[in-house]
Amino acid sequence: FEVSWDASAADKGGWSSFMAKEVSEEPEAVANTIRGRVKDGEIVIPELDGLDDLFQGVSRVIVLACGTAYYAGLVGKYAIEQWARIPVDVELAHEFRYRDPIVGPDTLVVSISQSGETMDTLMAVKEAARLGARTLSICNTQGATIPRESDAIVYTHAGPEVAVASTKAFVAQITALYLLALHVGRVRGALSPAVAAASIRELEALPEKIQWILENEQERIEQLSRWMSDTRSVLFLGRHVGYPIALEGALKLKELSYIHAEGFAAGELKHGPIALIEPGQPVFVMVPSPRGAATLHAKVISNIEEIRARGARVIAVAEEGDAAVLPFADEVLRVPLASPLFEPILAVVPLHVFAMGLATAKGLDVDQPRNLAKSVTVE
Ligand code: G6P
Repeated sequence: FEVSWDASAADKGGWSSFMAKEVSEEPEAVANTIRGRVKDGEIVIPELDGLDDLFQGVSRVIVLACGTAYYAGLVGKYAIEQWARIPVDVELAHEFRYRDPIVGPDTLVVSISQSGETMDTLMAVKEAARLGARTLSICNTQGATIPRESDAIVYTHAGPEVAVASTKAFVAQITALYLLALHVGRVRGALSPAVAAASIRELEALPEKIQWILENEQERIEQLSRWMSDTRSVLFLGRHVGYPIALEGALKLKELSYIHAEGFAAGELKHGPIALIEPGQPVFVMVPSPRGAATLHAKVISNIEEIRARGARVIAVAEEGDAAVLPFADEVLRVPLASPLFEPILAVVPLHVFAMGLATAKGLDVDQPRNLAKSVTVE
């Protein structure tokens, strides 16, 4: 069945914008996507009931998406490879479609789309199916075209998203990818029940942790965005799962506030981006957990020292209680403790709040950024 959504009739529920409402719904988006899919310490995805064969004999996963959904896919790669032990490539759907891709029956193509109607993604899924791949769609819209064209569906339950730039659907997409990765890991025997159960507990703890960020950090982040409302360029650095989050932070900032924003892999800094650092340049740095990822943490701290020495203004997104970061950061945006793989769903929240806050401070319409459409149904 089809659900149509009339934006003009939708209710902001007292919020200043749909985006403000949707960011406030990020905890629920994650909770609702998990709800009904965990039973006795195992992932049970009703939509995938009887479809275990879909995951047997798969030697490769290709994730296809556009925009924010593509960054969710980049995060998902880490989880699928870690838990299901299948190699994963993540590709922009429009690039995949036009390069004579090598896929076959042993390829599982996972598409991600909030709307389920993005033409680039739809055409890429059709091409993959034509070449014999198995197709699974992660989608937020019941009965949309992309899930209808796929062999299997895992719905995100973020609820209708009205603001053009995606926020709550993004955290729900990562959640769905994690559920899928855990499920496939169990079905294929790549993942022990103990690791699966511990990971499920981490996943279930996320909504409350996101809520903590909104309750404890949102005001301070909004204040920071007001101070920075004249900024012309912001850089974002991240490593491992923090890298796609850096890309998402930059995308959201350019979409909403029309300023130059760019995300980089922190390790790539010395290969080019460091040339951009001059006194006063704001740089957001996604700092990995010092407990869960000590080596990565040390490397990112040394990146911070390098850019700090060149005058960068460092805004660190770091675990609550990470004292090592304090001497080097001009601002620390705190996120609650989580295992490294679960950090992205937390670390992205301050970046969504910041982008929305800066655009609001500039007097821009955060729900309808210029030149952008919620669902791009042309190639
Ligand atoms: C448009 C929207 C983005 C979205 C992208 C993919 O560009 O402005 O917010 O991430 O499409 O949309 P989808 O519905 O496929 O997730």
